[in-house]
Amino acid sequence: MSHHIVSMQEVRFAYADGHAALDGVSFTIHHGEAVGLVGANGAGKSTVLLHLAGVLLPAGGKVRVGDCPVTRNTLVEVRRHVGFVFQDPDDQLFMPTVGEDVAFGPLNQHLPADEVEQRVADALGRVGAAHLSSRPPHRLSGGERRAAALATVLALHPDILLLDEPSASLDPGSRRKLIGYLRSFEHTRIIASHDLDLVLDVCERTLVLSEGRLVADGPTAELLADRELLERAGLELPLRMQPWGRPGRG
Ligand SMILES: Nc1ncnc2c1ncn2[C@@H]1O[C@H](COP(=O)(O)OP(=O)(O)OP(=O)(O)O)[C@@H](O)[C@H]1O
Ligand SMILES: [Mg+2]
Repeated sequence: MSHHIVSMQEVRFAYADGHAALDGVSFTIHHGEAVGLVGANGAGKSTVLLHLAGVLLPAGGKVRVGDCPVTRNTLVEVRRHVGFVFQDPDDQLFMPTVGEDVAFGPLNQHLPADEVEQRVADALGRVGAAHLSSRPPHRLSGGERRAAALATVLALHPDILLLDEPSASLDPGSRRKLIGYLRSFEHTRIIASHDLDLVLDVCERTLVLSEGRLVADGPTAELLADRELLERAGLELPLRMQPWGRPGRG
């Protein structure tokens, strides 16, 4: 996996009940890009990420991660490079304590104990969750669970980070820490989010989805300032771009 290119080519997908979620989605993301994935509820953002993580396989079209087409046979290889934070943290946390959850991936990679310990401490620290290490995940608040789920993935040092609503229910301090980390992360980041201000802060490029189709792909600063485009996609200007959101106004 030298290039870590992530791409979809004319991907179509319908869920088991026949609901068409992706209707011919194509894009190519190069190594090191930070890309926002935005769209109204039900637009298909999570479905796109689930395909890139190999959790879902397309009904039509192609998904590639690095040198690998994502197929049943390449899932182990794909998942070695991709770190995926699910929209629902409860899909990610299953050990008796947060610390054990964060250590789970690195231990599975057979890293030495001191390296695992270091990674757990680093990952929890990056999302402001060091104090949660010995707590049972199911007893945490929503934001604490979100931070713990993020840490489980950061501890794996993935080459490609796929984040589904990473800032949802984080308090401002934890959100700020997360943004700082995402800005400093050198590898590919694909971030589905309704937090358009986070997308503005982190992603130079944005994909806009609407009803399972890609309706725009371009520089974040341009697309997220385009009120008409956003309205057509069921979105609004980021707070910072709204007249009353600018410093010195109103
Ligand atoms: N398990 C499922 N079974 C059937 N339909 C589903 C399932 N999961 C999602 N869908 C449908 O697929 C479409 C895309 O859903 P998806 O979860 O990808 O949207 P999203 O853009 O992530 O939305 P949100 O902003 O609410 O997270 C929606 O119409 C949704 O109702
Ligand atoms: Mg979603």
